[in-house]
Amino acid sequence: QILFMLPLSISSELQTLKQTSGNPSSSFPPNFLFGTASSAYQYEGGYLSDGKGLNNWDVYTHKPDNVIDGSNGDIAVDHYHRYMEDIDLMVSLGVNSYRFSISWARILPKGKFGKVNPAGINFYNRLIDALLLKGIEPFVTLTHVDLPQEIEDRYGSWLSPESQEDFAYFADVCFRSFGDRVKYWVTFNEPNYQVKFGYRTGTFPPSRCSWPFGNCTSGDSEKEPFIAAHNIILSHAAAVHIYRTKYQAKQGGSIGIVLNCAWFEPISNSLADKLAAERAQSFSINWFLDPIIFGRYPLEMQNILGSILPEFSTTEKEKLQKGLDFIGINHYSSSYVQDCMFSACEPGTGTSKTEGFWRETSQKNGIPIGESTDLDWLYVYPGGMEKIVTYLKKRYHNIPMIITENGYGEEGKANATIEDFLQDVKRAEYMAGYLDALSTAIRKGADVRGYFAWSLLDNFEWQYGYTRRFGLHHVDYKTLKRTPKFSASWYKELIAEHGKVK
Ligand code: NOJ
Repeated sequence: QILFMLPLSISSELQTLKQTSGNPSSSFPPNFLFGTASSAYQYEGGYLSDGKGLNNWDVYTHKPDNVIDGSNGDIAVDHYHRYMEDIDLMVSLGVNSYRFSISWARILPKGKFGKVNPAGINFYNRLIDALLLKGIEPFVTLTHVDLPQEIEDRYGSWLSPESQEDFAYFADVCFRSFGDRVKYWVTFNEPNYQVKFGYRTGTFPPSRCSWPFGNCTSGDSEKEPFIAAHNIILSHAAAVHIYRTKYQAKQGGSIGIVLNCAWFEPISNSLADKLAAERAQSFSINWFLDPIIFGRYPLEMQNILGSILPEFSTTEKEKLQKGLDFIGINHYSSSYVQDCMFSACEPGTGTSKTEGFWRETSQKNGIPIGESTDLDWLYVYPGGMEKIVTYLKKRYHNIPMIITENGYGEEGKANATIEDFLQDVKRAEYMAGYLDALSTAIRKGADVRGYFAWSLLDNFEWQYGYTRRFGLHHVDYKTLKRTPKFSASWYKELIAEHGKVK
């Protein structure tokens, strides 16, 4: 039983890449989407090209000290101009889908306060048409954490209910302009982390934060992450409502939301630690999915937060229910969770009341949950993929799921050469392990419809700038030259073997 065979051409060192067991052909259902993922700010560049407005990340990265290497996404990997070359790379991989996001400020430079930018519409038309011509399904995220700065300046974006109308307006323009060809829509990417970083730790714009995190420029209310989340959830519902009532019957697509779905493993078998792991999920994923699917916040959150948690009105509850066709899962890593509600624990991530009284730790008795990587948050624990998918399958009655991101990041030693980056056996090993765990979950009945590798190319990794590489292709940031890494040939082989679809 050999799953995910290696290409024969690679060296014997690479041949040591672990073979895992299972029966691949029965594990990935017919028409399974195999793709790569990207996002507008991290890829496009062209930051003021052809009438695009300034967005929150343009402004944030242009202020000193917000990005560790002082870089920004002004050029990024220049996907705005090089998308045809990038589509050729996708063709060579053999993927049947491409996940990308739309730059809101390229379509509506001033949000609902200004006009649609025809050149922005034109760019995505060209991208979508070129993909379809090559048999690649566009899988489109409406906003991947960027928004027109105008929306921030005028009314404080997600802290105001006005954002719901703005987002719904943007979504309507996109469905109307692209929905004849786009069959997969995602409203938001990782809003659970977006509000955590934007309104709790202050490491994403608008850089607001509350106790116990320091170094924030403004914001002090413990309520802010919950208010922002509330408006994002209702914005999602508003966009879904528009899609369902005006477009879906005619266009025949589906719509969902993407959450960052880490797996939280109880550090012991004690009831307290098991409940703590449940709370960790509730304060992260279920925070968004429960309202969208069941029309209410998770009970743990209601009990602990009381009046800190906003409430949905009766009409809002009705609009929320059944507000998605699929759950998008970004899964990378896992951690152990220790209880902090029934027993005291050291301060750290999760320990405050507003995070649910649990403590995140990567080690149990001095042993890490999985192999460590260059990235402090990333541990290689393939079992987490099966566990998180199975968890979501049970909680949400097996609503279709799509792995919208999974990938391996590297920092690279100071004097690393391109060659070092190209021999990324670790990335291929990581993907092989996680895909095998995914195929096990599918074999046991999870309705998973696709898998997107993060990412096609090395790109701009938010506050870490260009210091962290996730690509299947290396990008030389001086010349913007793309070169396939070992993982690209490995993924190509995997798709050829298991992903023959249409
Ligand atoms: C998830 C985010 O959606 C993406 O923007 C980011 O680059 C990857 N994680 C890697 O950290």
